[in-house]
Amino acid sequence: MTRYLTNTEELIALENQYSAHNYHPIPVVLNRGEGIYVWDIDGKRYFDFLSAYSAVNQGHCHPKIIQSLVDQAKNLTLTSRAFHNEVFGLYAEFITKLFKYDKVLPMNTGVEGGESAIKLCRKWAYTVKGIPENKAKILFCQNNFWGRTLAAISSSTDPTSKNHFGPYMPGYEIIPYDDLEALETSLQDPHVAGFMLEPIQGEAGVIVPRDGYLKKAYQLCKERNVLFIADEVQTGLARTGKMLACDYEEVHPDILILGKALSGGTIPVSAVLANDEIMLTLKPGQHGSTFGGNPLASAVAKTALQVIVDEQLAKNSFHIGSLFRTKMETICQKTDLIQSVRGKGLLNAIVVNDSPDSETALDLCIALKNKGILAKPTHGNIIRFAPPLVIREEELNEALQIIEDTILRF
Ligand SMILES: Cc1ncc(COP(=O)(O)O)c(C=O)c1O
Repeated sequence: MTRYLTNTEELIALENQYSAHNYHPIPVVLNRGEGIYVWDIDGKRYFDFLSAYSAVNQGHCHPKIIQSLVDQAKNLTLTSRAFHNEVFGLYAEFITKLFKYDKVLPMNTGVEGGESAIKLCRKWAYTVKGIPENKAKILFCQNNFWGRTLAAISSSTDPTSKNHFGPYMPGYEIIPYDDLEALETSLQDPHVAGFMLEPIQGEAGVIVPRDGYLKKAYQLCKERNVLFIADEVQTGLARTGKMLACDYEEVHPDILILGKALSGGTIPVSAVLANDEIMLTLKPGQHGSTFGGNPLASAVAKTALQVIVDEQLAKNSFHIGSLFRTKMETICQKTDLIQSVRGKGLLNAIVVNDSPDSETALDLCIALKNKGILAKPTHGNIIRFAPPLVIREEELNEALQIIEDTILRF
């Protein structure tokens, strides 16, 4: 018999009892989402200012995306790549033309996208660049985040993510973010094959590098025949006010990784994009995924991208994002609680004026939740504000009023 629980405490207790304790959620139990809103099991409505870590850029349960999901689910969901399906080719054509690459490598989660990009870079290093076998090095930046697999945490500088999970993946070097001198020095090693970075570091607390950093870093990589690998899993797909955060500096990465909003928050879909010289170094049997490129994912991803283009979400994100920061800056001036606000488009964060190991940011998020806004601290005293990109000006103003009142009364 199906058992229904309708009590918040009971449902949270159930999760605590039967699920691993690898998250520390804000105590709210949700059962419905539409556009920029989610509802808890008692029917209370919230502004979603996290957007599932930027996976629901198009808004919750976007009707066109859900329609694609349902239509395709009724026909065919999975074939594996052992056979062709009638959707994948169309999606592959669409995404490669949209982002101007020759080929796409379809994967599922963001971290798999990152892993695949690194494998691809290594393969290119040995078969095209001519780096001696097993000597290829990939450069990463301090405070990067690209997921939780062993390959990903091996590049991490965050002890919480990394400690007690060793031994780690060799062949990595970590350099400071937004530091061109450090990059230039590390690039002198002829065994460097790739430089993988987030154009804005999301999980680190929305760290925006100086203007010109991406462009110059790309040029330095070109001079050394090193692949510039952009992890746009969080910053991509209009989140930062352009289709890609790299677009701000007209950088076309050698390898581009996308995920999260590629399915509008429905199922895990990620993609690695590159040109033939790089992508065709992978031969049959050398990489793959049972679910990558499945017809359900392909149908959903194509629609999810179409929605971003048709609804001009990059433009809206750019516009609403600047309104958000302007208003937040005026709030900052009225209180000592908030140190600063930063971000691009609708990927923003405020820095709470307390030590990174204090509970102040979490307590503020709980106060916001009580007032109808969902957000979550990232790295101690930083709170990320990243609503779905379909948010309109009047909705932003309503949310900002709540944020202001909550902060000033905190
Ligand atoms: C920049 C970046 N890359 C990769 C990932 C990993 O994505 P996933 O959790 O889907 O594996 C994340 C997740 O937050 C991310 O922010």
